[in-house]
Amino acid sequence: PAQDQARVAEIKQLLKAHNAVLVAHYYTDDAIQQLAEETGGCVADSLEMARFGANHDATTLVVAGVRFMGETAKILSPDKRVLMPTLEATCSLDIGCPADAFSAFCDQHPERTVVVYANTSAAVKARADWVVTSSIAVEVIEHLQAKGEKILWAPDKHLGSYIQKKTGADMLMWDGACIVHEEFKAKGVEDLKRLHPDAAVLVHPESPEAVVKLADVAGSTSQLIKAAQTLPNDKLIVATDRGIFFKMQQAVPEKALFEAPTAGNGATCRSCAHCPWMAMNALDNLASALRNGSGEVLVSNALRLQALKPLERMLNFKA
Ligand code: 13P
Ligand code: SF4
Repeated sequence: PAQDQARVAEIKQLLKAHNAVLVAHYYTDDAIQQLAEETGGCVADSLEMARFGANHDATTLVVAGVRFMGETAKILSPDKRVLMPTLEATCSLDIGCPADAFSAFCDQHPERTVVVYANTSAAVKARADWVVTSSIAVEVIEHLQAKGEKILWAPDKHLGSYIQKKTGADMLMWDGACIVHEEFKAKGVEDLKRLHPDAAVLVHPESPEAVVKLADVAGSTSQLIKAAQTLPNDKLIVATDRGIFFKMQQAVPEKALFEAPTAGNGATCRSCAHCPWMAMNALDNLASALRNGSGEVLVSNALRLQALKPLERMLNFKA
């Protein structure tokens, strides 16, 4: 629509005027992803977003995603201004792992190495030895296990049990889940697979174990897009937020992509697998953030320095 075009033009001009770059997650609206692409920003998974923001020489980062992504950007780039379209965009994993309760849990298990998923608050990261994203989690846990370390893992129990099965590591788990991925049902994926027996199944490992079991490839958002390109299949059943289809379809225009059903009856669902917090990012609030400096992410220096250590471990990790 004409209104969107005007907004896009305004945002492009504001990005230049503020020496700002747009860092967007694959689950944000197509219009935001397109804008990030057209303006030299990035559309990426959470690990690549962190790297891109930290390495970019812009003085303002506009992070379109959820709160932990903005916080991570600020922790890694304290001298940059980090803006988000809205600070209300959180994540069920972050909500489900309050820092006080988590810290008490860690205190009860001092012998364990604390590894937290990036989808957590700065305060939870500050209590951790390691931060990982889904694209690097298996390698990091393998590395720790080889050193004989026992793990305390938080907060995603599904990702945790996926890693546990892959590595055989001793992992004590926090009981958290992603409300979006938890809705995928194995029965629905199996029914869809019966309709398209030659389709490959791509699954984000925040999904329940029974769904991950059906996967030809399980991985982070970027890894799933790569898999879509490398697998020979012309049809792909994809169990992750539907935001991913924008870039995935660009990457494989010739392939047919199917949303994994979130209902157990095999009915395909056109709109259920979409993160309500990612959906809060829009052209309007993105423009306001740049225009008014609203949605600025701030992290106290003491907290930042504590959370930086496990984050830097992740960024410096080489498998
Ligand atoms: P990725 O690291 O795969 O981008 O995942 C982040 C996320 O929030 C998935 O729900
Ligand atoms: Fe959190 Fe799930 Fe949304 Fe990702 S999709 S931000 S894990 S609630």
